[in-house]
Amino acid sequence: MDTSQSAAQPRPTVGVPRELNEDERRVALVPKIVAALTGKGVDVVVESGAGLGALIPDELYVGAGAKIGDPWSADVVVKVAPPSNEEVGRFHSGQTLIGFLAPRNQDNQVAALQAAGVQAFAVEAIPRISRAQVMDALSSQANVAGYKAVLLAASESTRFFPMLTTAAGTVKPATVLVLGVGVAGLQALATAKRLGGRATGYDVRPEVADQVRSVGAQWLDLGIDAAGEGGYARELTDEERAQQQQALEDAIKGFDVVITTALVPGRPAPRLVTAAAVEGMKPGSVVVDLAGETGGNCELTEPGQTVVKHGVTICSPLNLPASMPEHASELYSKNVSALLELMLVDGALAPDFSDEVLAASCVTREESVS
Ligand code: NAI
Repeated sequence: MDTSQSAAQPRPTVGVPRELNEDERRVALVPKIVAALTGKGVDVVVESGAGLGALIPDELYVGAGAKIGDPWSADVVVKVAPPSNEEVGRFHSGQTLIGFLAPRNQDNQVAALQAAGVQAFAVEAIPRISRAQVMDALSSQANVAGYKAVLLAASESTRFFPMLTTAAGTVKPATVLVLGVGVAGLQALATAKRLGGRATGYDVRPEVADQVRSVGAQWLDLGIDAAGEGGYARELTDEERAQQQQALEDAIKGFDVVITTALVPGRPAPRLVTAAAVEGMKPGSVVVDLAGETGGNCELTEPGQTVVKHGVTICSPLNLPASMPEHASELYSKNVSALLELMLVDGALAPDFSDEVLAASCVTREESVS
């Protein structure tokens, strides 16, 4: 029995809608987390079919203590994708929303949520500090994307990843270069190693060299240090950019697979792989560009498409986490519930905005709209 609530105090309710975009197969809460929240004094209402994309039937939610019903009247609505206009219209004043809100790209939506009196928390604005790691949805989903990017590259490649010694001859291991070694990049390197590839990592933050080596990959040093604030990189100067593109053009020729994950928050994706670099690669090579949403790290990327240029396959998947909905939802669900729990004080929803995690992630508070 929960002792943190007085008998008179109503239990906060959390609603889990079905994601509207049919390509979005993730769900914001999985049954295991529903059971944990229910045990902490929260009532959960799940829209019928919300978990189907992740292969979770309604019955499993009911078994975990949820009700199947209308999630839009709950105190807190938890989502994966940013709300559509139609979804924004379903909110009423005083409700809270937690989800990916792309506050930098979807200004209208954030403004509409603000106008509707919704207190919206953007999970991508959670600061990357130790205490908030359990809530860091960008990282949990980037891990999925880094893993899946390598599988995609392996399946598009005309070559094996591992070294193979067979009666018919020996095949050399694939050489894999990962550009940008944050969360997705490090997972891509580790996955490429697990598949038997020869992995190399490059970043403009020299501090990640040890992490690259720790997963058994080699570090490519181009002599540029652009470490910025909060564990992110700063944008390069024009001179540094030209130097980097030239050095990478020379390096990229030797790789079978290039996976790009470079990001500078709030800026267009840095251009790391020029058209000339692609032209220099062996036909049959593969580029997987994870930064398509912000324009792509490769000059020849067509966001959301797979194209072949100069004999090189260039893939730009925009939502790889949705292609692994089961585990991606499980991890995301843990992130969301940890953020939600931070807002609960003595069983009531009472976010304390002196908490830097809540202050940074709330994008529609009266005093500060980011
Ligand atoms: P992160 O911020 O952890 O890592 C980005 C890395 O890029 C950092 O280590 C940074 O130092 C490096 N970087 C920045 N500028 C650079 C430059 N000029 N040269 C070399 N490295 C540079 O980001 P995270 O979470 O790993 O995400 C990586 C990318 O993957 C982002 O663009 C993100 O939007 C994208 N993503 C794509 C998904 C998809 O399905 N397409 C899913 C999840 C993430």
